[in-house]
Amino acid sequence: MDSKIGTRKRIAVIPGDGIGQEVIPQAVKVIQASGVGVELTNFDWGADRYLRDGTTVPPDGFAMLARDFDAILVGAFGDPRVKTNIHAREILLGMRFKMDLYANVRPVRLLDAALCPLKGVEPKDVDFVVIRENTEGVYTDAGGVFKQGTPDEIAIQEDINTRKGVERIIRYAFEHCKRHTKLDGSPRNKVLMCDKSNAMTHAGGLWQRVFREVSGEYPHIAAQHMYVDALCMQMVRDPRQFDVIVTNNMFGDIITDLAAGLQGGLGMAASGNVHPGKTSMFEPVHGSAPPIAGQNVANPFGAILTAAMMLNHLGMTAPAEKIEAAVLDAVRQKKTTQDIGGTLGTRETGEWVANIVGG
Ligand code: NAD
Ligand code: IPM
Ligand code: MN
Repeated sequence: MDSKIGTRKRIAVIPGDGIGQEVIPQAVKVIQASGVGVELTNFDWGADRYLRDGTTVPPDGFAMLARDFDAILVGAFGDPRVKTNIHAREILLGMRFKMDLYANVRPVRLLDAALCPLKGVEPKDVDFVVIRENTEGVYTDAGGVFKQGTPDEIAIQEDINTRKGVERIIRYAFEHCKRHTKLDGSPRNKVLMCDKSNAMTHAGGLWQRVFREVSGEYPHIAAQHMYVDALCMQMVRDPRQFDVIVTNNMFGDIITDLAAGLQGGLGMAASGNVHPGKTSMFEPVHGSAPPIAGQNVANPFGAILTAAMMLNHLGMTAPAEKIEAAVLDAVRQKKTTQDIGGTLGTRETGEWVANIVGG
């Protein structure tokens, strides 16, 4: 029997480490307040479990997630006690790679002008999305170290770019552009590919050729290009120009932290790790933030907006919109954590949003 048959969507919840354990319960509270028919199952994968019994991902863990769940909601992984970061690699990158969640979709939206460090920038000016390749690049751990600890040590980190991987992420970006509108209802109409093909000629050449080919299939979408260094400068100078950005794994990681800065910081940024038709995983962009963990100060909005993104992906658009509207309300009324100017704690902020969503 197909275990996914039934009307209630099944969601695996993995809070992980540090502030993941604080923000994910708030996101869960808000999901429950929205009244959606979902079944939530908690998993204790993370540093504590790893330090207790050596488990990062239990045997068959990824197959179980793919088989028994419609989506996965994740907090963050990273703990100063696990110096190698092995658990984060095996759990987080494991989900992305082994479940082949090749599109990391990271929307960049400014909810209120007061949150943006740039002067004169309004919410309508920051409404773009970064589509990050999520299964290749320098993240595959291909490479090695030779003569370690000697003056002749050599460290090689390979940058893997496959024709299939590059083509599917670029096509995903064009399809996303075609199917999505901006928050004000206007159509998206530009896809910008960001690379470093002036220095990284082999990989860059492949991205350039594939981008040219795939963009030809979308004559109504403007195809643009920028080197990643120039893009960083432009993102700060004039974020209005961006619509859909597609890039590789590492550049996508870096520019989405920069982009989070435009939104009010890492506490505001949401993301999805998607493979259309497969069980996909949703997580805020931020990490486990060890210095602020356990203090009830972490901003839960990134996690709550991520939950909304997940519900949207599962076809529950009305509750997703309700959650996004409640977060916007909270921001406007300063019912927020201190990082974005409020006075509430993580729990109190989550409760405020849950009350609006449930009311
Ligand atoms: P981080 O995102 O944890 O923190 C960066 C800065 O942003 C810190 O100043 C932190 O206090 C602040 N911040 C982050 N989230 C916040 C929130 N919700 N509210 C308020 N402030 C917030 O990045 P880091 O310090 O580079 O990494 C810490 C650990 O997290 C590392 O182990 C790293 O590998 C890991 N990490 C994990 C993920 C993930 O699991 N998806 C993502 C990024 C980093
Ligand atoms: C992210 C994180 C991860 C990444 C780390 C924890 C491996 O920074 O999700 O942005 O680089 O992808
Ligand atoms: Mn990152």
